[in-house]
Amino acid sequence: MHLLWYYSGRRIHVNKEEARKKIDELTDLLNEHNYKYYVLDHPEITDYEYDMMINELINLEKQFPELTREDSPTQRVGGEPLSSFTQVQHNVPMLSLSNSYNKEDLIDFDRSIRKSIGEKIEYVVEPKIDGLSVNLKYEKGKFIQGATRGNGIVGEDITKNLRTVKTIPLKLKEEIDIEVRGEVYISRETFVKLNRKQEENGGTIFANPRNAAAGSLRQLDSKVTAKRNLDIFVFNIQRMENMNISKHIEGFEYLKSLGFKTSIYEVCKSIEEVVDQCEKWSEKRSSLGFEIDGLVIKVNDLTQREKLGTRSKSPRWAIAYKFPAEQQKTKVKNIVVQVGRTGALTPTAELDPVRVAGSVISRATLHNEDYIKEKDIRIGDTVIIEKAGDVIPAVVRVIFDERTGKEEPFEMPTICPICKEETFRLEGEAVTRCMNAACPAQLRRGLIHFVSRDAMNIDGLGESIVTLLLENELIKDAADLYYLKKEDLLPLERMGEKSAQNLIDAIEKSKKNDLERVIFGLGIKLVGARAAKLLADEFKSLDGLIKASDEEITAVPEIGHKMAESVVAFFKEDRNLEIVEKLRDVGVNMQSLKENDEEDENIEKKFEGLTFVLTGTLEKYKRSEAKKIIENLGGRVSGSVSKKTSYVLAGAEAGSKLEKANQLGVKVISEEEFEQMV
Ligand code: IVH
Repeated sequence: MHLLWYYSGRRIHVNKEEARKKIDELTDLLNEHNYKYYVLDHPEITDYEYDMMINELINLEKQFPELTREDSPTQRVGGEPLSSFTQVQHNVPMLSLSNSYNKEDLIDFDRSIRKSIGEKIEYVVEPKIDGLSVNLKYEKGKFIQGATRGNGIVGEDITKNLRTVKTIPLKLKEEIDIEVRGEVYISRETFVKLNRKQEENGGTIFANPRNAAAGSLRQLDSKVTAKRNLDIFVFNIQRMENMNISKHIEGFEYLKSLGFKTSIYEVCKSIEEVVDQCEKWSEKRSSLGFEIDGLVIKVNDLTQREKLGTRSKSPRWAIAYKFPAEQQKTKVKNIVVQVGRTGALTPTAELDPVRVAGSVISRATLHNEDYIKEKDIRIGDTVIIEKAGDVIPAVVRVIFDERTGKEEPFEMPTICPICKEETFRLEGEAVTRCMNAACPAQLRRGLIHFVSRDAMNIDGLGESIVTLLLENELIKDAADLYYLKKEDLLPLERMGEKSAQNLIDAIEKSKKNDLERVIFGLGIKLVGARAAKLLADEFKSLDGLIKASDEEITAVPEIGHKMAESVVAFFKEDRNLEIVEKLRDVGVNMQSLKENDEEDENIEKKFEGLTFVLTGTLEKYKRSEAKKIIENLGGRVSGSVSKKTSYVLAGAEAGSKLEKANQLGVKVISEEEFEQMV
């Protein structure tokens, strides 16, 4: 009980030097106990003793706020809310994985690796944690930045939120520069508690732990994140100075020694052992304290990894093994019809809730009339439903033996359940539609689409606020959003001064979006995000697209005749043109913001955000040619190597730049590897 010495109960008057010493001592001691409790799961003191010490630290920090250290455990409670997240360019791309689903896929993976390097391969098998991938950056051992994966090249800065995760060390046990990657997740137990709390407080109910983790990490208010009890498994060193590690598992040991909570793993000497592990993990999956959706199989030897290299989005030296879709038996209580933004009527089964693949499922899509007929799904039927990972749950089959005779066949409604207008099923189409463009359901869905992440990306404006705005008749179409004032929002449920201002700011910010987002946001039937980009690149302005003929649109590579017809029909409607005019009047950008007209935009910008340095004599290209290739793919070429350099492309007789790259831990690639990336 010697630690009780720290507890004052009354305010002790200390001078600044004494305070600094005591604050340092307490910060280090508390961090060590935090590590033992959260990372090692091996507490050495009681909660009471911990509380006494942290109270002492809080008191001292109150008296001398300037002495509070950045890595103080008191700094894990979250701070002032942000108005939006800033973008972060990753120094090392955060790749994803290709998938395998069975033994044969794994054997193929092993065969192709062995063929390509002709050596014996040792694998490491790790659970594939179902959470959110993050990059953590440390300078001189201090945690300075944490980011989401985003598109792998650019993510969002969520440092403030990650500081609240108790298993993320704020200070490492060595003063080094390092970037690591891990998966933030929420344990099953915390997930159940969180949803219970959300239910009591009328908050969002999360469908599964992964959504809960993602929702908690993407909070603008880090104080909310702090309450969510998030956890992390770190599984990779992304970048490190003078890395002296030759095996993946040595990396794990090193990460552990720095204070990270690392992934559990098994080493396998052959692919047969890997297959055995897949079976074992599949059985023990449900007994783990956290959700996993598969395993990740990685080559252990880092030199072999270098030889294998990467594709544009995933490494050749690793593969994900996805567990088979989980099935459960349940009952169809009812079949309801939902109306989407293009008027499509989607029948949905309302089910007796069951737990499948980590989520409680109470609805499953039935797609369309034909699907229901083909499977003969009736209201009251006992059915098998299936879910795998992120996939929408589906009804696989009816258990006909359990029919009682009371089941009712489903009829597709001939009038829209929302606006009561007649519905149509066009020849050759599987979909039944409500054709009334003014149908409130279509309007609502269309607005939700307009503000969504891939469209106008208006932060803080989701389904519930769109519904509130419509119910309160504050908006009738997407353009009305830009006419909203803070005062209009304040009377809305749970809308404070700050959130109203944030929303107005986010709406304002979206006026500057690039043209492709506007085109996608308009919700033209058949026009997805990729098509919107192609159209924006081709026609350069919304007016250009409005004036374009069917033939001109069809002439754009990848755009088919049906899509072109749909675009032309969309801009023939007065109502749609009115919305466009209103958007223009209020200052929404309607021009392509791309600068380089000559670029071949149909090429995927796979090097976006990457900086290359070229050195030595290249065999296959002139320097200027390699530069052009990189720039055409969205990358940048720089003359000197720094920590920000993504890759050094080294030819024969590369000199000082190569040396510098090795010193800084920058990835060096050969011409061959470069070609593979291209
Ligand atoms: S390795 C280059 N290991 O699964 C290697 N990924 O696409 C990239 N994940 O979002 C990933 N657990 O964040 C790796 N032990 C593990 C993992 C893991 C979960 C996630 C990863 C990524 C997704 C794969």
